[in-house]
Amino acid sequence: MKMMVTMGWLFIAIVHKAEPFISDNFTDCRNFFYNQMLPDGFQDIALSHRFNPLDLPDGIKVEELSSPVYICQQYGNKIYFASLYDRGRRVPLYSAYILDRRSSSNSTNKRKHNFNIEPQLVYRQLDGTILREYSTKIKIGKYNKEHGISEKEEKNRPHYLIPTSQAVDADYYKNKHYGRGHVNPRGHHVDGDKQNATFTFTNVVPMNKDLNNGNWNQYENKMIGYADGCTTMYVVTGIVPGNNWIKGDRVNIPSHVWNAYCCVDNNGKPIRSGAGLVNNTKEMVYEIAMKELQMQLTNLLNTTHIAIFQNNCA
Ligand SMILES: *[C@@H]1O[C@H](CO)[C@@H](O)[C@H](O)[C@H]1NC(C)=O
Ligand SMILES: *[C@@H]1O[C@H](CO)[C@@H](O)[C@H](O)[C@H]1NC(C)=O
Ligand SMILES: *[C@@H]1O[C@H](CO)[C@@H](O)[C@H](O)[C@H]1NC(C)=O
Ligand SMILES: *[C@@H]1O[C@H](CO)[C@@H](O)[C@H](O)[C@H]1NC(C)=O
Ligand SMILES: *[C@@H]1O[C@H](CO)[C@@H](O)[C@H](O)[C@H]1NC(C)=O
Repeated sequence: MKMMVTMGWLFIAIVHKAEPFISDNFTDCRNFFYNQMLPDGFQDIALSHRFNPLDLPDGIKVEELSSPVYICQQYGNKIYFASLYDRGRRVPLYSAYILDRRSSSNSTNKRKHNFNIEPQLVYRQLDGTILREYSTKIKIGKYNKEHGISEKEEKNRPHYLIPTSQAVDADYYKNKHYGRGHVNPRGHHVDGDKQNATFTFTNVVPMNKDLNNGNWNQYENKMIGYADGCTTMYVVTGIVPGNNWIKGDRVNIPSHVWNAYCCVDNNGKPIRSGAGLVNNTKEMVYEIAMKELQMQLTNLLNTTHIAIFQNNCA
């Protein structure tokens, strides 16, 4: 028995070391959370992965497929924010980040940008950097070759592995009503790399196009003003999973989008906090207190307890 326990720990330690960016409890990106504390109440609502559990791809072990996934969002070789990713719904339940833009600084680049894929959601052993879908296919093909994984079987082919593990461009392509809604938006960041890091499908949900370009966008812009005078503005933006999907049952359409912020001074003391909640329609964003948001989310998520910031950022 003792031997078994020891072996178990050894296994965990090895997996963990090889794989720093999908980590238990955001070990490598705690600094994006106020007082390094994680929001509570979201980890149990994720749905399980979408691979056939009785015939898993040869390169994937079932224990690597737990849902939600704690993703420390990496671009190049740096970590820029954190996302709690629901493998079953193929959307983030929330992204946590620091809003570094201030009203005095303009956004540097507004050019069109493509969304990336998270190779490590396919094989945990692949490195954590986000990549375009075609580059991810090449990477998986190379990994298969190096590990003797046969692509004669459909289940081992990149074109099956990628869309089974996550949402892809084709899911959103030409959808009339729902667009690629950034959860952590580019506009809350000044630095080009920080902006680029937000372009991953693990930070995107199907958002009503009028909302995305209208009221939600305006609210995001208003938040930049709320950050004035803050040394650090911690933000958690998330969704309430809905009962509808895009592309059959591919990607869940959230029923609501929500957001909470915690502004602190240079001693880490809270200065102000607030929240927003909106239906995933073109309606107005309700600006409410943190506690009110948590009460509403408790109802909407059919859960008993939601806490977004330590001590409600008070
Ligand atoms: C992760 O953090 C939560 C809340 O702090 C805690 O309940 C849970 O046990 C932790 N899990 C692991 C694997 O550390
Ligand atoms: C930001 O843009 C506005 C409007 O284009 C301009 O008036 C302002 O001077 C710019 N601020 C900075 C810091 O560049
Ligand atoms: C961000 O992405 C764009 C488009 O791929 C690229 O041109 C740019 O060099 C990247 N980095 C920065 C810092 O903007
Ligand atoms: C969402 O829509 C429902 C029904 O249309 C309405 O009762 C509710 O107040 C709306 N909530 C928000 C946050 O917009
Ligand atoms: C919460 O319960 C309602 C009513 O039963 C259901 O429609 C909805 O899908 C549930 N939401 C979640 C996130 O489980």
